[in-house]
Amino acid sequence: MLQRTTTLDPASPREPAGEASRRRTFAIISHPDAGKTTLTEKFLLYAGAVAEAGAVKARAGRRRATSDWMELEQQRGISITSTVLQFRYRDHVVNLLDTPGHRDFSEDTYRVLAAVDAVVMVLDVAKGIEAQTRKLFEVCRARQLPILTFLNKYDRPGRDPLELVDELEDQIDLRATPVTWPVGIPGDFRGVIDLRSRAFVRYTRTARGATAGSEQLVDAEQAAAQEGDAWSRAVEECALLEEVGAGVDLKSFLAGETSPLFVGSALTNFGVRHLLDAVVDLAPPPAPRSDAHGTRRGLDEAFSGFVFKVQANMDPSHRDRVAFVRVCSGHFERGMTVVHEPSGRPFATKYATSVFGAERDTIDEAWPGDVIGLVNAADLGIGDTLYAGSPVRYPSIPRFAPELFAVARARDSSRAKQFRRGVAQLEQEGVVQVLRDEQAGDPAPMLAGVGQMQFEVFAHRLEHEFGAAIELTLTTYKVARRTDTETAERLRRTSGVRVLLRTDGALLALFESPNWLARIESDHPDWTLERLIAE
Ligand code: G4P
Repeated sequence: MLQRTTTLDPASPREPAGEASRRRTFAIISHPDAGKTTLTEKFLLYAGAVAEAGAVKARAGRRRATSDWMELEQQRGISITSTVLQFRYRDHVVNLLDTPGHRDFSEDTYRVLAAVDAVVMVLDVAKGIEAQTRKLFEVCRARQLPILTFLNKYDRPGRDPLELVDELEDQIDLRATPVTWPVGIPGDFRGVIDLRSRAFVRYTRTARGATAGSEQLVDAEQAAAQEGDAWSRAVEECALLEEVGAGVDLKSFLAGETSPLFVGSALTNFGVRHLLDAVVDLAPPPAPRSDAHGTRRGLDEAFSGFVFKVQANMDPSHRDRVAFVRVCSGHFERGMTVVHEPSGRPFATKYATSVFGAERDTIDEAWPGDVIGLVNAADLGIGDTLYAGSPVRYPSIPRFAPELFAVARARDSSRAKQFRRGVAQLEQEGVVQVLRDEQAGDPAPMLAGVGQMQFEVFAHRLEHEFGAAIELTLTTYKVARRTDTETAERLRRTSGVRVLLRTDGALLALFESPNWLARIESDHPDWTLERLIAE
């Protein structure tokens, strides 16, 4: 049974900075199949939030079966929606923001990463850094997020861990600083050396890790006698790592330059506790956040937060819309009236919830680092700030560089109104980016995205939720650059280029090929053609 802890011990200090210091807000990033879901479950198991692993998946499955907007997820066996889990661990409140694993939804993940203070990066020991890990890592780096690395699936055959340490450094310029180091090769996992205590933690397999495993601590002498060559090799490797200065360094970790490394097997529960302890001991608590002018708003100032995700129609029985808000300062109390910064209008928070998958609980209060779900948030868009007391505006969340472009048309022109309404809403939710030709009244906007599946979700939802079936025509444009009005004029006279306006006011120039773009850039070095994020 999942316990959601929305209120704390009444005896605890009731001021935002104190509450913030007890909080850790993070996300897990990985390539699909590396073990993110399994690890999430095991975190909940170790935190005592679920009694038995398997509950999250089983529950998610059950929920999905009753939720038609997840139909597509079910058909594809993928996870599109993010969930926010909150649990207590060692007198701390941990907020784990889940991220969709599929690359087509990387923009969604990107927005989640704007709302966390740290990240756990899961690598499959047999595969190392994979495409999606790299892409998400780059976003973390751009945001200077501290990263803890977990080498997962060590119970199975895989690659040499030293080789993976090198790979991290060579490929993504991230220096791994091992906290635990494996004894035995992947597939013949004996346990780990905890480099802080030098103790050997023996690996004992539990049946698919349904319950928290026991961790047996063995002293070095005994470990050497029992583990023989595997032990000597691990000790040698640790000495080697020490020589190259691979000790944990808090400052460079907090700057996102080095990454404490843990080794284990999420499936069989090994190494999970070390990692969760590190989330509490090493990952930073929520800190005062900079506003759009670079001024930090203190944690103890009045409530403020920003929307990082909007999701509609999670429950077909009440078609509504939830805005997820990361609290940045102050004390949030349900029922308080806050200001929606972009419109200047008051926003009532009577329906504040915590959200677990498609399930909701009323939330009465929240503190910096927490996430609240605001129901019926029709006017709240991604990146919008909400505040009480003195005004504040947090920086907007930059959009991802689109790589696919398709023209959308309503199949039935008598449904034009539904089509327009649906496009506007799905755009605001960030399902796709919508581009329009400023110069032509545009009944057929251009959709821009990172992956084909975003378009499928868009089309599916437009048809089923708004009653406007659409026809999508993929175009040959492949790459976009941000431009200005002056360059736009010139680009409009250039073949193989289209200039369109995005809803956030950005002018995007679309090119049919990277080569064509390169040619234009070299012919006209003075033109404004800026790269977009995560290319
Ligand atoms: P994801 O969310 O990152 O996509 O990965 P997920 O946790 O779903 O794990 C992908 C597969 O890898 C699952 O197997 C899971 O059981 C397995 N796995 C995760 N961690 C470990 C580990 O430490 N060791 C081993 N040996 N396997 C691990 P599956 O067969 O796809 O699903 P299932 O039938 O086990 O649920």
